[in-house]
Amino acid sequence: MSTRPTVSRTVPALRRALAPFRKGGGRIALVPTMGALHRGHLALVQEAQKRARRVVVSIFVNPTQFAPHEDFGSYPRGFAADLAALKAAKVDLVWAPSAEAMYPEGFATRIEPQGAAKASLEDKFRPHFFGGVATVVAKLFTQVSPDFAIFGQKDYQQLRVVTQMAKDLDLPLEVIGVKTVREADGLALSSRNAYLSAAERAAAPTLYRVLNSAAKRIKQGEPIEIVLEECQDEIARAGFAVDYLEARHALTLAPVVSRKDGSIRLLVAAKIGKTRLIDNIAV
Ligand code: PAJ
Repeated sequence: MSTRPTVSRTVPALRRALAPFRKGGGRIALVPTMGALHRGHLALVQEAQKRARRVVVSIFVNPTQFAPHEDFGSYPRGFAADLAALKAAKVDLVWAPSAEAMYPEGFATRIEPQGAAKASLEDKFRPHFFGGVATVVAKLFTQVSPDFAIFGQKDYQQLRVVTQMAKDLDLPLEVIGVKTVREADGLALSSRNAYLSAAERAAAPTLYRVLNSAAKRIKQGEPIEIVLEECQDEIARAGFAVDYLEARHALTLAPVVSRKDGSIRLLVAAKIGKTRLIDNIAV
C-alpha cells in the first residue's frame, strides 16, 4: 500500500523529504493552505499537478495573520480529513509544521508588503493581515523552493500581494492564480462558510449575485460610483454589514472611476452574523 503523502513537521524533515524530488528532476509546485480543505483547495492541487511532477501542500494555521479578536482559536481544524483528501488527490508531500517549527523562540523578522497590500481593502479592516501572510508565505517559499506556487483568486488582494512579493524579492518561482470554485448557487467555497447558520447560508449567495449585476451594469456603461452605491445597499438589505464594495484596477488595485482606467476587478467584503465573507470578480 502506498504511504503517500509523506507528512513533514520540521524544517530538517521537510528538506529530507524534498531531496529525492529534486534529485529526480521535474518541477515542484507548492499549494499553501490553512487546512479545513474543500473543493477550492483541491482545484489548486489539480492546477499544481498540471504544472509540476511533485506537489507539496502546506497546512499551517498561521497565527501572525490573525488579530487577537479574530478567529485563530476557533478556525476549523481537521487534519485527519485533510490528509485523507490529499491522499485521494495523490499529493506527494504535506508540510505541516508546528507553530514552534515555523516561529522558533527568538523569531524577529517580518515582511511588510506595500503597494497592493495598502490598497485600503482587506488591509483597512485587517491591518495586521498582509504582513502576517507575506512573512509566512516568504518562509514557505524558501522552505520548499517550488517552481510554482498556486493561489486562489478567491483571495484576490492576497494573490496580488504574494505575486508582487515574489517578484520584488527575486524569488525564482512563478505564482499562479486559480479561478474561484463556487457552490451551485454561486457562493464562493470558504473554510469559514462552516460558521454560517441555515438562514445566513441562504442569504450568502447575494454577494456573488450582486457582483455579477454590478459588473454587467458597469460593462453597459453605467457610472461606476452609482452602481456601487446601489449594489452596496442591495447587499445590506440581504442582512449583511458591508465592509466594502469596490471597483479597482485588476493589477494595482488602485481605485478606478471609469472603464478607461484599465481592466477592473470588483471586490466585496461583508459580514453576516459573526461571519465575514469576501468575494471578487472581473468586469
Ligand atoms: P486558505 O484560506 O486555506 O486558502 C488557501 C488557498 O486556497 C488560497 O490561495 C485561497 O485563495 C485558495 N482558495 C480558498 N477558497 C477558494 C475557492 N473557493 N476557490 C479557489 N481557491 C480558493 O489563504 C490562506 O489560506 C492563507 O492566507 C495562506 C496563503 C495559506 C497563508 O497563511
